[in-house]
Amino acid sequence: MAIISSCIASTLKDAATSLRSGNLVAFPTETVYGLGVDATNKDAVAHLYQVKGRPTDHPLIVHISSMANLDKWAREIPEYAIKLARTFWPGPMTLILPRTNLAKDFITGNQDSVGIRVPSHPLATVLLTEFEELGGFGVAAPSANRFGKVSPTSSDAVFEELSGYLLPTDLILNGGPCEVGVESTIINCTQDLPEILRPGAITSTMISTLIGLQVNQIATGSNKSTIKAPGLLQSHYAPRAKVFLSTTPNLGDGFIALSEIPTPPDAIRLASPKNNKEYAQLLYQALRLADTKQLPNVIVIPPTGDDLAIAICDRLEKCSYKS
Ligand code: TXA
Ligand code: MG
Repeated sequence: MAIISSCIASTLKDAATSLRSGNLVAFPTETVYGLGVDATNKDAVAHLYQVKGRPTDHPLIVHISSMANLDKWAREIPEYAIKLARTFWPGPMTLILPRTNLAKDFITGNQDSVGIRVPSHPLATVLLTEFEELGGFGVAAPSANRFGKVSPTSSDAVFEELSGYLLPTDLILNGGPCEVGVESTIINCTQDLPEILRPGAITSTMISTLIGLQVNQIATGSNKSTIKAPGLLQSHYAPRAKVFLSTTPNLGDGFIALSEIPTPPDAIRLASPKNNKEYAQLLYQALRLADTKQLPNVIVIPPTGDDLAIAICDRLEKCSYKS
């Protein structure tokens, strides 16, 4: 497979054609890199699950170029979901909605709902638009990492994760580092009230302020929701190094914290973000660096706040070491 760095219009058209032919195309979004596949092509989706090493009953998010195509995939869309889509799309938000017949069991993990997102990265927008012009309906794209591992926020990270699994006909598009750095907010819109299944850059305060409804937040490991989502497993987003939260590093341990927190003696600093936005941008790259440096442990001091800190803390909880 090739990494394509000069993503001019003709390359994106070729990439869209390749998707339509059943190949995989890893592409940048504003959250993390996705591993794209034609969401209506059963064999190609089977190949994607194999490359990811992901159990087939875990659903995929379908990416579309604009809200105009939402009706093709989803039905009985509640008023509050329309409002969310109009306000936060294109952007880092995924809506879970009742599915139409287009959304087959092989992308929904046999559930009656489908996850839909309109990403805002310009390269993703052009790729999806070209794909739809070729007759495609949507591109299913999980984060472009092996199942349970850290999501990639650069094309190099995608290569490092998946080069051993992709075919020569598959592609990786390079669109630079991801602006948000953590995965989209997932909102279950199949009930009277919205429920956050995975926190992200669109926060529960932003959602409830917009729609004037109470927003529920599903707890890690909770069995209250009937919805299945791998990000809800206890261990996810994990590097090989063991991640410990808010403990004192030993000699040679990695260390991640806001720049205002000094590096403890003997620790190896992996990132010094200035604020929570930068923290989200740098977190996954820093966890990957720990593995490149073959560090046994990483000590992370989680950020605080009700902004992106919530999403960061959610991922840190899930990747931290449980004895
Ligand atoms: O930011 C993102 O959302 C990235 C970029 C590439 O768009 N994608 C991403 O996909 O994080 P993935 O597959 O790594 O995580 C998607 C999550 C999974 O936890 C999946 O179970 C959940 O979305 N999901 C997808 N469809 C669902 C559905 N119908 N019901 C419940 N959860 C669903
Ligand atoms: Mg993922």
